[in-house]
Amino acid sequence: MEDWVSIGYLLSAALFIFGLKKLGHPRTAPYGNQLGAMGMLVAVLTTVLSMQLAGGAEWVLIGAGIVIGSSIGYWMAVKVEMTGMPELVALFNGFGGAASALVALSEVWKYLEDSNSVPEGLELTVTMVAAGLSALVGWMTLTGSLLAMYKLKGGVSIFGKWIKTPTWGPAWLNPVKVLLVITVGVLIYMSICEPTNTDYLWGIIGISCLLGIILVLPIGGADMPVVVSLLNSLSGIAAAFTGFIIGNSVLIIAGSLVGASGLILTFIMCKAMNRTLIDVLFKSFGGSGEKESLTRTKVGSDADEVAMMLDGAQKVIIVPGYGMAVSQCQHQVKEFADLMEEKFGTDVKYGIHPVAGRMPGHMNVLLAEANVPYEQLIEMDEINGEFPECDVAVVIGANDTTNPAARSGEGPLAGMPIIDADKARTVVIVKRSLSVGYAGVDNDLFYMDKTMMLFGDGKAMMAGLNTALKEI
Ligand code: TAP
Repeated sequence: MEDWVSIGYLLSAALFIFGLKKLGHPRTAPYGNQLGAMGMLVAVLTTVLSMQLAGGAEWVLIGAGIVIGSSIGYWMAVKVEMTGMPELVALFNGFGGAASALVALSEVWKYLEDSNSVPEGLELTVTMVAAGLSALVGWMTLTGSLLAMYKLKGGVSIFGKWIKTPTWGPAWLNPVKVLLVITVGVLIYMSICEPTNTDYLWGIIGISCLLGIILVLPIGGADMPVVVSLLNSLSGIAAAFTGFIIGNSVLIIAGSLVGASGLILTFIMCKAMNRTLIDVLFKSFGGSGEKESLTRTKVGSDADEVAMMLDGAQKVIIVPGYGMAVSQCQHQVKEFADLMEEKFGTDVKYGIHPVAGRMPGHMNVLLAEANVPYEQLIEMDEINGEFPECDVAVVIGANDTTNPAARSGEGPLAGMPIIDADKARTVVIVKRSLSVGYAGVDNDLFYMDKTMMLFGDGKAMMAGLNTALKEI
């Protein structure tokens, strides 16, 4: 490798690492994102310039790929709603896995065209093992991620008919998964013995696609974000394997960074839900998709009543959830906090559950957009101790993450740590109805005597509450 190519790759790897470091705090995260994107630009330019392309046609092909790919990526990123981000991430994970597997396949394909190019001994073994693993992880990530995307969407529209994405996973499926992984191992071994026979490769691809589907099919409910994060990690691992095959150091580094950080995030999310990764993958516990039917009722309050109760409150904790993202009421929430501070000198904080919303950091991103100071965003473990001293917990579009049912040992939420909003002196809940949240479990918090329900869209309700507060 020429020196300038090594320097280009070193620069892009350094940009990835510094970018990742900056992503660790909301304040520096946008800069981290820019550093990562710059690292990718340097890596792509270095790779293209080092390719010593033969003629104009190859340049046109690569240029067209870059222009079309960038335009689609830009269009999707601009168009996507904040609530659709997890689906977009799932789709990108799948594309990443498939891209790595296709590059690996194209390298091995060369052996078919020219059997003299087949390496011997250890080199052949390393190439075929890396290609087999890249295919296993890459194709599994593609099909698994596509299914995950449709699960997050809730279904798929075929010829105008809405078909719900199923959640299905009998216990006998688990040994089948293990058997399929072993079969892929055997096929990789056979492909080393007979590298010019493509049948083994097709076998690996077919089984890997099937594995992706049966891995994700039983998973649902609150476990979905964990799976999306795991698939993200797998897409990185597939890239790292492909980096070995084509001898590209920056692909190995970038792939390993994605693989490792995705895995760390997966474990953080498992911890936040009190689940182990084994439970998520092999016990279809988090998501029958069934929703509890509601039998209880509760009379709603109005904005004036809630504003009067808030008059003079010394300590208020705002607990945001998915409903805040849906109604996009973060600016009204910030205005509410400002009003409380200005009018009554209230100490206002925000209690952030690690899986509130539909993607990691969902609430932080929205509240940062509304210029809420980072110091006021307090993580669950830290804020929970403050609820017994809290006059009013204002829960905005959060449900599962405040559901005391999680403290019991049963049901889809069992064992998930929650925000202790029910321990505040008074609770105000802003949502449209008494209906269940993502995990489909009725919430006792709504029916407590100390709870006031403010039924309606988050934005309209918070705007109404702010008007009522101004009139006090
Ligand atoms: P959820 O339990 O999903 O509840 C959100 C509530 O928002 C709903 O009950 C809904 O009630 C209300 N809502 C919807 N639209 C609204 C609107 N326009 N105005 C006001 N309220 C509205 O939310 P959560 O507490 O944030 O919990 C998140 C759940 O999603 C967890 O189970 C978590 O495991 C799962 N999950 C998380 C992620 C990540 S990584 N964060 C990813 C996927 C899934 P109404 O219909 O009555 O209004």
